[in-house]
Amino acid sequence: MKIFYFTGTGNSLSVAKKIGGQLYSIAQVIKKGDTYFEDDSIGIVFPCHGVQVPAMVAEFLKKVELKSQYFFAIMTYGKFSGTALQELVSAMPKARNFNFHYVNEILMIDNYLLRADINKELEFEFKKSIDKNIALIINDIRCRKINSAPQKGFFTKILSSIKKFFFLVDGKNDINFRVDKSCINCGVCQKVCPKGNILAKGKVSYFHNCDFCMACVHSCKLSAIHVKGEKNSKRYRNKLVALQEIIDSNNQNKTFSHSEKIEKQKAV
Ligand SMILES: Cc1cc2nc3c(=O)[nH]c(=O)nc-3n(C[C@H](O)[C@H](O)[C@H](O)COP(=O)(O)O)c2cc1C
Repeated sequence: MKIFYFTGTGNSLSVAKKIGGQLYSIAQVIKKGDTYFEDDSIGIVFPCHGVQVPAMVAEFLKKVELKSQYFFAIMTYGKFSGTALQELVSAMPKARNFNFHYVNEILMIDNYLLRADINKELEFEFKKSIDKNIALIINDIRCRKINSAPQKGFFTKILSSIKKFFFLVDGKNDINFRVDKSCINCGVCQKVCPKGNILAKGKVSYFHNCDFCMACVHSCKLSAIHVKGEKNSKRYRNKLVALQEIIDSNNQNKTFSHSEKIEKQKAV
């Protein structure tokens, strides 16, 4: 079994690790340019972003050729998943001529700092029965269960459309980030960015190629990176995932040319 995952704060990676099999970071697959994968079963695990599949996951699904008897997709989310899975399932046959045999979603800690207070999220984590729900999904996958995307009602569809309208990823979402004086230029933000959009040299600079996954904000040990509208400075990483795993998953090891560095310094 091969599992392709995308993660900002480790929730989706923790689920992928529990399911097992060979794990592939989607950010690394895109970077390497590998396009063909085959196995007896193939899955993707990813977070919900703006009631949608994250841009990088959509790009991956457009680019790769996957061959398997059994395809599954698991989406982690924090509060409202809306019609994200339904849309993914209906888009695939048209876009890539394949169907997911099994799809499911799992409610986890909400890392969207514009809405979520991480202190409260952690306090009430037990209510989400995360381990129990992951175990049910693992069992479904082991039994090769076949299902269709969870059906959503009329109001959920309307709300999903409204939320999607207000969640636009155009690369420039990084203008919402502010780095405060406590930054020591450790470079972690640069290493966890799956888009290679950050240069931490002298000061932290963003280059307007941001998917807004917030890995940089959450991974900063000093909480020195802030996002406009955040509830507070509490940050999050899934307890089953080490910082190094986020780095290994996302690091683009990008070296910046002199002119790019100058552009970046201007950008912030
Ligand atoms: C930019 C952004 C947008 C998000 N949008 C949604 C959303 O529309 N609905 C939702 O329930 N959770 C949303 N979330 C929360 C994540 O889907 C959730 O916390 C997920 O488990 C994070 O997984 P990860 O740690 O693998 O990145 C969003 C998070 C981010 C960073």
